[in-house]
Amino acid sequence: MQTTIEAERRAPVRLGQQLKRRKSISSMAREAEDNAGNGKMRRSLGLVQLTMISVGATMGTGILVVLGATVPVAGPAIWISFVLAGITALLSAFSYAEMAGMVPVSGSSYSYSYATMGEGIAWVCGWCLVLEYAVSVAAVAVGAGEYVNEALRTFGMELPVELAGGPSEGGMVNLPALVVVVLATLLLARGARESAIVNTVVVMIKAAILVFFSIVAFTAFDAGNFEPLLPMGAAGVTGAASIVFFSYIGFDAASTAGEEATNPKRDLPRAILLSMVIVTVTYVLVAVSAIGARDWTWFEGTEAALVQIIGELTGQPWIVLLFAVAAVLAIASVVLTVLYGQTRILLSMSRDGLVPAVFSRVSARTGTPVAGTFITGGIVAITAGFIPLGALAEATSIGTLFAFALVGVSVIYLRRRQPLAQRTYKVPLYPLTPLLGIAACLFLMFNLSWHTWLVFGVWMLVGVALYLGYGRRRSRLGALSKQQYIDTHIGRQ
Ligand code: ALA
Repeated sequence: MQTTIEAERRAPVRLGQQLKRRKSISSMAREAEDNAGNGKMRRSLGLVQLTMISVGATMGTGILVVLGATVPVAGPAIWISFVLAGITALLSAFSYAEMAGMVPVSGSSYSYSYATMGEGIAWVCGWCLVLEYAVSVAAVAVGAGEYVNEALRTFGMELPVELAGGPSEGGMVNLPALVVVVLATLLLARGARESAIVNTVVVMIKAAILVFFSIVAFTAFDAGNFEPLLPMGAAGVTGAASIVFFSYIGFDAASTAGEEATNPKRDLPRAILLSMVIVTVTYVLVAVSAIGARDWTWFEGTEAALVQIIGELTGQPWIVLLFAVAAVLAIASVVLTVLYGQTRILLSMSRDGLVPAVFSRVSARTGTPVAGTFITGGIVAITAGFIPLGALAEATSIGTLFAFALVGVSVIYLRRRQPLAQRTYKVPLYPLTPLLGIAACLFLMFNLSWHTWLVFGVWMLVGVALYLGYGRRRSRLGALSKQQYIDTHIGRQ
């Protein structure tokens, strides 16, 4: 009899049960402390660096190139699209802030989902985060080629076509994209602190060029450019909001730094909200000043609208050169910080057994996951340099919006299940804020094209196959017997 009970306890857990297994917040906190305490991951990031990580991951290719694709869709009301996308991101940022203060680990929304909706949804979320981070960073890096060329043109030169784009664009390799990713990887491998210092400097530079752009553009401001405000109707504004949302992706990057922050419970919520305010104000300023400077029909087909406007208004090649160089740096800092986030999310997933153990091996010398950083950086570098991302990059926004919606759900879930748990930050107007955040994310998702949904569907199927083929068997939570699971996770909620 005793043996039968024992055998039952040790029987492999059924798939349905495993998908629902949740990790307790206390066990995550212990893991994080173990990591920091053993001198593995180093706690070196304060509020400024954390805010800069989020701003660094957010302001980049999107704002530098997105006007060409979106002004023709929305008309002069493009600034309203930026406000709508900003509100969506801000509503999610409130939820992120509450969760980051409660679960200050490296896994961001992946970890929040694991603590609330269980392993199945956590894997889906983590797989969406690969779209948000690794795939988007490869797409972002590709934009570097455009601006390197813009800089070279001021000297009457251009990159040879073989080195300016991958095989799908008639070249051999996108060398600038490859170099930017390799340099970011090397810096990240050196240490989080070193990377944060470089990132802070570059964020200052990119904020400065965007403010500089707005000042120059305002000198040519024509209020008549805002009429008619809605030539493409309200649908144009919401459609463009779904596209410009790409420019807001990344504000959540600070939530991947929970194990390297000096005071994560206090600083993570502040950093996330602060970065959102900085980014939204800057974007709306850029959009309003750009439309004020040029009629909305002018933007059709432009690839680097901001630098073109600067060139035309100042007539100074050296200013164009400086702007283009700063734009390359801006893109490089997105690559740096987003790559950072991806390595930390993979670290969390690896600790849980859902991806190979190499991603959670922390070097004693640098205090960073060096091997995981090189593998991730290597894959992203090859993707950015040689592989056409096309459709996959389009699915970045949909994957991100899905992950953001899950964070809203996590907040509501934990407020109901653990109302008394310590929260260093609480979303205002609960439950309205997370509910509106979820609704806004779903609204923007449904505004994206069926084509993007199709790609997203295929991406998710690949994710499910990977989970069934690897994660399900290697999961640490899945390997626990029912009793062990109850002892270690349910008992400690
Ligand atoms: N938000 C990031 C950018 O615009 C992805 O580059």
